[in-house]
Amino acid sequence: MSGQKIKVGIIGAGSRGILSFGKTISTRDDAQVVALCDPNQVRMEFAAKDLGLKLNFYNSVKAMISTEKLDAVVITSPDFCHESNAVEALNNGVNVLVDKPLSTTVKGCQNIIGAAEKAGKTIMMGFNLRHHAVLKKLKKIISNGVLGRVFLIENREFYDGGRTYMSRWNRLYSKGGGLWIHKGSHDFDIFNWLLDFPKPVKVSAFAGVDVFKPQHIPFAVKAGVPVGPTCHQCSYSGICPDIYKIDDIQNTPWGDRAVAVDGYSKDLCMYTSDKDTHDNGIAMVEYENGVKASHLECFVTSMSDRLYTVIGDLGQAEISLGNRIITIRPRWSQETITHFIPEVLGGHGGADPMLIDSFFKVLKGEEKNTSTTEHGMWSTAIGQAAEISRREERTVKVAELFL
Ligand SMILES: NC(=O)c1ccc[n+]([C@@H]2O[C@H](COP(=O)([O-])OP(=O)(O)OC[C@H]3O[C@@H](n4cnc5c(N)ncnc54)[C@H](O)[C@@H]3O)[C@@H](O)[C@H]2O)c1
Repeated sequence: MSGQKIKVGIIGAGSRGILSFGKTISTRDDAQVVALCDPNQVRMEFAAKDLGLKLNFYNSVKAMISTEKLDAVVITSPDFCHESNAVEALNNGVNVLVDKPLSTTVKGCQNIIGAAEKAGKTIMMGFNLRHHAVLKKLKKIISNGVLGRVFLIENREFYDGGRTYMSRWNRLYSKGGGLWIHKGSHDFDIFNWLLDFPKPVKVSAFAGVDVFKPQHIPFAVKAGVPVGPTCHQCSYSGICPDIYKIDDIQNTPWGDRAVAVDGYSKDLCMYTSDKDTHDNGIAMVEYENGVKASHLECFVTSMSDRLYTVIGDLGQAEISLGNRIITIRPRWSQETITHFIPEVLGGHGGADPMLIDSFFKVLKGEEKNTSTTEHGMWSTAIGQAAEISRREERTVKVAELFL
């Protein structure tokens, strides 16, 4: 790879594949996107135009890899097909950067781990939050012993873009494994990472759809004039406070021409869509070393932020990713120490470009891969256990998933 640009194919030419990875890779001197793989030709055409590149299009990973002689693929297809896409790439000798979650089941993760071992190739997890400047600082504070022995973590995620989980493929358990995996796996990985990877032992979770249901539509629906099915087709788009407005939708990868190929609309009415996930919930984890952690996620808010409280026997730290603040309260003291973390440019608070940089450094042998498939498996395991817990209304022992 030395001296030559790293040749990359993107599997899943949607929002994340193009707007986050494609665009960032295109700004680099050491790598280039050469091909796209997506079942939807229309979306690939939009993607290539968006990137301003002449790219080859494929409908199958195998065909792309055998034709293009790629060094790496980036997997940004829906979660349920991460496993098949990653295994195919690894079996054909290509390095992989796979967005979270590694897979929607522990079994799927194990299959990927097996394929990677056999292939002897690099596969790195797209855990971008680990590259967020605020969380990197928090990790350093914990590692330096400022908080002492950590025994409790609390985290809340508020996301005002609730529609993205009610209107798209990720509203369905069959496609995303449920939101504890699709969304929560980010934070479960942060717990694991901050704690230096103790094994999670028990998980309990409660979750439901409490707001985005037909009976809670926030305006009067006239007889004979139904809402939806999509925002851009809806008779109430002028008065709905939750309208998902995509400017000039027909000129985007989400217009009728792309929908005609695969039926995938991005702006289904989030009140009436056929979702089987949750719009809010709480999950709790207990680790083998006794540390307890809780994760709340709520997609019915007017603000977006990720908040963490980490408590040790020498003090506690409170973090807001959105406000880029870490407040430390040493135990036995009224003192507070506040760190303001400067803004970093790039997607997800600057975390996306750092993640991509790290992947290429790993491929060039300049850095060790510290976001491994094992880590991907443990965050999926917590998410899968949380999903089972809320469905079966019981505490789930994580070991059950490995039987
Ligand atoms: N790390 C993060 O912060 C973050 C944020 C958002 C999404 N994601 C992850 O990124 C991935 C993509 O999410 P998105 O929001 O970009 O979705 P998207 O719907 O915008 O894009 C998905 C694309 O994959 C294509 N696709 C469908 N089946 C496929 C298959 N079998 N093989 C290849 N491509 C296929 C679709 O046609 C679509 O173009 C998901 O795994 C999601 O969990 C991560």
